[in-house]
Amino acid sequence: MVLCGATLRRVADVFEHEIEAGLQERPSSLQMENTYVPELPDGTEEGSFLALDLGGTNFRVLFLELRSGQLVQEKVKQYHISDALRLGPGDDLFNFLADCVQDFICAEGMENDTFSLGFTFSFPMKQHSISSGELITWTKSFKCGGLEGVDVAALLQQCLRARNLDVTVRVLLNDTTGTLVAGAHADPAVGIGVILGTGSNGCYMERAERVQHWERPHQTVHDVCVDVEWGAFGDNGCLNFLRTEFDDEVDARSLLVASFTFEKYIGGKYLGEILTSVLSALARDKLFPAAPRPSFLQTAHVSLFEEENCAGEVSRTLAALHDACGADVTLSSADALVAQHVAHVISNRAAQLVSVCISTLLRRMDRPYVGVAVDGSVYKHHPRIAHLMDKYITLLAPDHPFSLRGAEDGSGKGSALTAAIAARIAVRES
Ligand code: GLC
Repeated sequence: MVLCGATLRRVADVFEHEIEAGLQERPSSLQMENTYVPELPDGTEEGSFLALDLGGTNFRVLFLELRSGQLVQEKVKQYHISDALRLGPGDDLFNFLADCVQDFICAEGMENDTFSLGFTFSFPMKQHSISSGELITWTKSFKCGGLEGVDVAALLQQCLRARNLDVTVRVLLNDTTGTLVAGAHADPAVGIGVILGTGSNGCYMERAERVQHWERPHQTVHDVCVDVEWGAFGDNGCLNFLRTEFDDEVDARSLLVASFTFEKYIGGKYLGEILTSVLSALARDKLFPAAPRPSFLQTAHVSLFEEENCAGEVSRTLAALHDACGADVTLSSADALVAQHVAHVISNRAAQLVSVCISTLLRRMDRPYVGVAVDGSVYKHHPRIAHLMDKYITLLAPDHPFSLRGAEDGSGKGSALTAAIAARIAVRES
């Protein structure tokens, strides 16, 4: 679990190789998806938009109004997506999404209005244009039947039309793209968007000539946003040298076994599982009093243990371990320190690996300075991940100045901004 500099450089070399292969449509574990987003906000974005955000257990519908690139009004409603919907037939899920849009529009008294919609769909897609794309595979906590290979924007459009809603799906985007666009709105030097939440992924502005896959004319396009889909990095075995017995265990217990290898080292969905796996192994070796109950420890516990570790405290760590291992188990302060150390090792590895990806993108972009917009629960709530990332990116790309910038709500604001960019381009090209 403890990676040295030489291993990180090896991961970076493999990542660079997989990036090249993916861009050239040769076999690669990296999708390197052309998002067809060819430019970033320039402050002229105007209009009212609906935005949908699907990726976690809550689905959000948003109404956003932009004036000269500024967000002047925002209304949001969250809808819970049950296990039955996340794991059932895909048609049920999309009918539910359209029902939520209808509910939102009615609740706001906007039944007679006409809307452009941005659909933030945080899963790997094969995009055909800025407004269409097929689901490649589910990730995180979704496994609906019958949707792989289906154009999710077209399906959503069909479900909205069936409800007589005057809503047109104008853009289909990944959450990383939304984060990049929202980040670039705040700072034009932002060129990379990263999500470090339940899952992990990144996108960046790549030179259009380096991208092989184009399904429409692109002579005038200089740069284009590419969605790396680094969660799947290593699914072809190219990272097997990193894999530990704990990773094997986490993978075997996951919803989508043998898929999204890299995400299982970094994503918030998995850090608590790795902690459980390591503490259980220590318990088997009599180095820890008892194995934690399966699935009890979450990433929030990793953050809590790290927080107490920074503060030199153990009381809340001990209380959580008692809940996890059983009230009858005797736990000492030394045991709490062991758990905190394990949490730190896991967090450090996650920070190192995500930093390898970001530093490789910085080297590829080779600009004087690049802002990196980052969103996601792990980035926001883990007490030292941002600091660790800063440190490792600097070590891995010392000649490439950057700064990490928290980007709030790429999925909402970024979606509306991207819809506005699409509208601007459509006007220019008509
Ligand atoms: C998963 C998805 C990816 C998304 C990421 C963060 O890795 O495949 O599309 O960006 O989660 O939500």
